[in-house]
Formats: sequence, C-alpha cells, structure tokens
Amino acid sequence: MPRVVAEIAGNRPVSAVWVNELGGVTFRVGGPAPAEYVKTYPDAEAHLLDDEVVRLRWAHRYATVPEVLDNGPGWLRTAALPGRSAVDPRWAGRPETAARAIGAGLRRLHDALPVADCPFGPPSWVGERTPAPDLLVVCHGDACAPNTLMADDGSCAGHVDLGDLGVADRWADLAIATMSLDWNFPEGRWETVLLDAYGVRADPERIAFYRRRWNDEPTPPG
Ligand SMILES: Nc1ncnc2c1ncn2[C@@H]1O[C@H](COP(=O)(O)OP(=O)(O)OP(=O)(O)O)[C@@H](O)[C@H]1O
Ligand SMILES: [Mg+2]
Repeated sequence: MPRVVAEIAGNRPVSAVWVNELGGVTFRVGGPAPAEYVKTYPDAEAHLLDDEVVRLRWAHRYATVPEVLDNGPGWLRTAALPGRSAVDPRWAGRPETAARAIGAGLRRLHDALPVADCPFGPPSWVGERTPAPDLLVVCHGDACAPNTLMADDGSCAGHVDLGDLGVADRWADLAIATMSLDWNFPEGRWETVLLDAYGVRADPERIAFYRRRWNDEPTPPG
C-alpha cells in the first residue's frame, strides 16, 4: 500500500478495489459510510490525475461525480458516491439493467453539463478532423461500463474517472459505451438497449469512426 494511502486511512479499513492498465491502483478507505476512494498512479502518469482534479471540480457543480477531498502528486482522494460500478458482480447476470443504466446515465450527464461553460477541449484520444458533430456535448471521455456507478435499484448513481472529460460529439461517448458492453457482458448485444435508454438511434458511421479513434486506428478524413 502506498504510504499516502496508509496516512489517509489512519486506523480505518483499506481495500484495493481496482487496478488500471497503467498499473495505477484505487483504494477504498473507511466505510460503510462515509467512505472515501484514493486513486494512485505511477509517477510517469501522475499528470493524468491533475487533469482529473480540475475536471471533477468543474463537473461536480452540475452532475453526480465524486467530490475532490484532497490530492497530491500521483494521488487523488474523493468522497465515495453511493453506488457500485456497472461491472460489479452484482450486475454480471443482469446486463440489460446495466446497459439501461449506462445509457440513461450518459443522457443525464450530457444534458446536465453546459457546453458553453466548459473550459476543456475534446478528450485526448478524439483528435482533429472528426465528422460533423451530430450534437456537441460535454463528453465523459472514458465512457466504459466500469465508470458508470449504479444504485441497488438498477438506476445510474453517477460517474467516475473524469480525467478526459471535454467537449465533443455525443457519439464519442456513445461509441465507447456501447463497445465496452461487449467486453463486459459478452453473451449478448446490448447496444440497442443502451441507445434506447439514451434516447437515440444508432449512427453506425459515427460509431465506427470514434471506435477507430479510441483504438488508435487510421480514420478516413472527417
Ligand atoms: N468516489 C468514488 N465513489 C465510488 N466509487 C469510486 C469512486 N472513485 C473510484 N471508485 C471506484 O473505483 C474504480 C476505479 O476508479 P477510476 O475509474 O476513477 O480509476 P481508473 O484507474 O482511472 O480506471 P480505468 O481503469 O478506467 O482507467 C471505479 O470503477 C469505481 O468502481
Ligand atoms: Mg475507470
């Protein structure tokens, strides 16, 4: 356990809850309530948490996202939102419920965050020369299933992991959210359920474009 996590915890219980692709580890501290989360990143990637701090502080005024309690080089401490990730084992056998929560949650997020006030440019992976936007919104930027939290009644309880939040076409989020359903719930196609809950018809060209960008594959000019 990193020293900063031990210091924050004091004599409260700590558990490691998530390891990301960069080797960063998120810890849950304390609880049942009030609990906190401490996200730690390797030195080389620590700047990504600085990006997340400013975005969380901005988005927290409009939407259900974690409150920043404290941060420092390579760590970010937030107040726990009451909910579990959409990929928590609780939802593993209920992909339709999860897909609906993710779609409805993204719609609520997009409706709540004001584009005109948003100081952040497009998510880092979106890049330039994109197709004409269907609708510019403030995108989550990493709209994979684990970053939607769900309440026990199956509704969306908020969003985490906002380090790449910024203004882009809503299909930047929808393409990734629907793609990640296939990673996390492989036994079916839940794309239509998610898009119905969001309130939109599939746009296969924009979906394909943003998935290629996400995967860092060449895209035809927009
Ligand atoms: N404030 C919070 N309230 C509730 N759950 C949280 C909170 N912060 C983090 N979590 C939980 O910890 C997990 C990891 O957090 P987060 O997604 O921010 O980390 P990450 O390392 O950036 O993830 P990724 O692998 O997507 O890059 C989340 O999926 C969520 O389950
Ligand atoms: Mg995450």
